[in-house]
Amino acid sequence: MAFKQPELPYDLKALAPFVSEEQMDYHYNKHHAAYFKKLNGLIEGKPEEQKELDDVVKSSSGGVFNNAAQAWNHTFFWDCMSPDGGGKPSGELLESIERDFGGLEPFMKQFSDSAATLFGSGWAWLASDAAGKLEIMPLSNADTPLKHNKTPILTLDVWEHAYYIDYRNERPRFIEQFRDVIHWDFAENNYKERS
Ligand SMILES: [Fe+2]
Repeated sequence: MAFKQPELPYDLKALAPFVSEEQMDYHYNKHHAAYFKKLNGLIEGKPEEQKELDDVVKSSSGGVFNNAAQAWNHTFFWDCMSPDGGGKPSGELLESIERDFGGLEPFMKQFSDSAATLFGSGWAWLASDAAGKLEIMPLSNADTPLKHNKTPILTLDVWEHAYYIDYRNERPRFIEQFRDVIHWDFAENNYKERS
C-alpha cells in the first residue's frame, strides 16, 4: 500500500506571521507531497510498501532513503510547530536542557547558530540517546537522527524551500522567529517516549 501524506495539523495560514499561507502551501502541498509521490513510485511492488515509514527510513539508502526521510522529517516538523506554540519547555525536558546546555537560553543560541551555519540544505535537530542525553545535530539534506539511532525531539527545516517566499535569503531571521511557534508539548512527549 502506498504511503499517504498526513493532514497538516493546522490550517495553512495558522502559523502566520512566522510562515505565510503561500509559504506553507508550497512547502506542504508541493514539496512534502512530492516526496511521498516519488517515494511511492520508487517502492511500488517492493517489500518497503509493507513497512512503516520510519522503518523504511532506517533501512534504506539512495533515492528511497532521501524521499522516505524527507516525507518523515516534514511530518515531524509540522508537529514541532503550533499556532499556540512558543513559551518554554517544562518538566524533564527543561531539566535535561539545563543539564546538557547550561540553560534554555544557551540551548536556543546553540540550536539557532547550528541552524544558521548549516551549509546548504538540511535540518537542525534536537535529539536524545536512550539514556536521555540531549544533543544538537545539524544534519545535511534528508539526514535524520533516526539514522543515527537517536530519538528526534525537535527540528527546524532550513532548506531554502522552507523560508524563501517569506524571508528570501534571510535564514537567520526565519530561525529567530521559529521560537514563537515551537510546540514544546510535542517535544516533551518525544523526550518522554525516547528509545
Ligand atoms: Fe522542507
